[in-house]
Amino acid sequence: MQWIDLRSDTVTQPTDAMREAMMRAPVGDDVYGEDPSVNALQARLADELGFEAGLFVPSGTQSNLIGLMAHCARGDEYIVGMDAHTYKYEGGGAAVLGSIQPQPIVHAPDGTLPLDAVERAIKPVDPHFARTRLLCLENTWHGRVLPLQYLADARALCDRRGLALHLDGARMFNAIVALGVAPREVTKNFDSVSVCLSKGLGAPVGSVLLGTRELIETAKRWRKVVGGGMRQAGMLAAAASFALDHHVARLADDHARATRLADGLQGLDDVKVVAQHTNMVFIDVPVERLDALRRTLDDARIRMSIGYTPSIRMVTHLDVDDEAVARTVQVLRAFASC
Ligand SMILES: Cc1ncc(COP(=O)(O)O)c(C=O)c1O
Repeated sequence: MQWIDLRSDTVTQPTDAMREAMMRAPVGDDVYGEDPSVNALQARLADELGFEAGLFVPSGTQSNLIGLMAHCARGDEYIVGMDAHTYKYEGGGAAVLGSIQPQPIVHAPDGTLPLDAVERAIKPVDPHFARTRLLCLENTWHGRVLPLQYLADARALCDRRGLALHLDGARMFNAIVALGVAPREVTKNFDSVSVCLSKGLGAPVGSVLLGTRELIETAKRWRKVVGGGMRQAGMLAAAASFALDHHVARLADDHARATRLADGLQGLDDVKVVAQHTNMVFIDVPVERLDALRRTLDDARIRMSIGYTPSIRMVTHLDVDDEAVARTVQVLRAFASC
């Protein structure tokens, strides 16, 4: 029996066609800026998302980190969600490596950071305080799509208070597909955006940071400093370009499967669906039954993410088909009824 891996959309295997594209990719030394496949990916995403320049990096964590370091200097501060990836799940990199102080804000249930709370958190210009420089949002956040009007309101606040605005857009294409809008509608209010190719888009490695030419030049220096300069990275960039060509529209299939998964689990006492947005489903199981659930899942060869968020997380992706959804529903229903 094949494993069904619902822990994250990061677990996908490159398809045969993607591997072909990787094999054929022209390559060069990207630290010298000479890898044609990397250059094509950066230019294409910058153009599609409305930025002057892009920078290919090994991970979303590094893309966010060097983005924050390009915006903020030592002793500066960024405002960020209490449950945002950049704050909670990236090893505190902005503070550890950038000497940038995070100012966390509690998320609203829809994934936004309430703008009145953001405004209250901005520090006065006074030597007692860190200098508030940047607001960082995440879209999608736990699968939730941030409303377009909220993004415009956040931009207006940043303009009024002299902050820059960064997006952790690890799953930004899920938001674009869910909204059915042009990509620029989601990116146009930001000074910088980090996009992951290795989440729902199904590439094995890589993220791209987008911004002005000047910001990207600064980020490129930080990429080198944190050890992220890759040489013949074109094979990875080719996988990313393949993903952009072939795996964006199909994110709608992942969203539909997540909906089907959540619908299939309705009405159970011991498996409660607490949220489903885009490609993510969150369930609660009584604490005293968690060990039994782990055993059941192991026997059924199903993996889900237990313990990283308060609820158990299931994520649909390229390698989760209809049969996998049906089998998961069947196993969880049987567990809930015994
Ligand atoms: C919202 C979000 N941002 C950033 C990242 C970091 O990406 P990476 O794992 O490539 O460092 C992740 C990883 O899962 C993520 O979920």
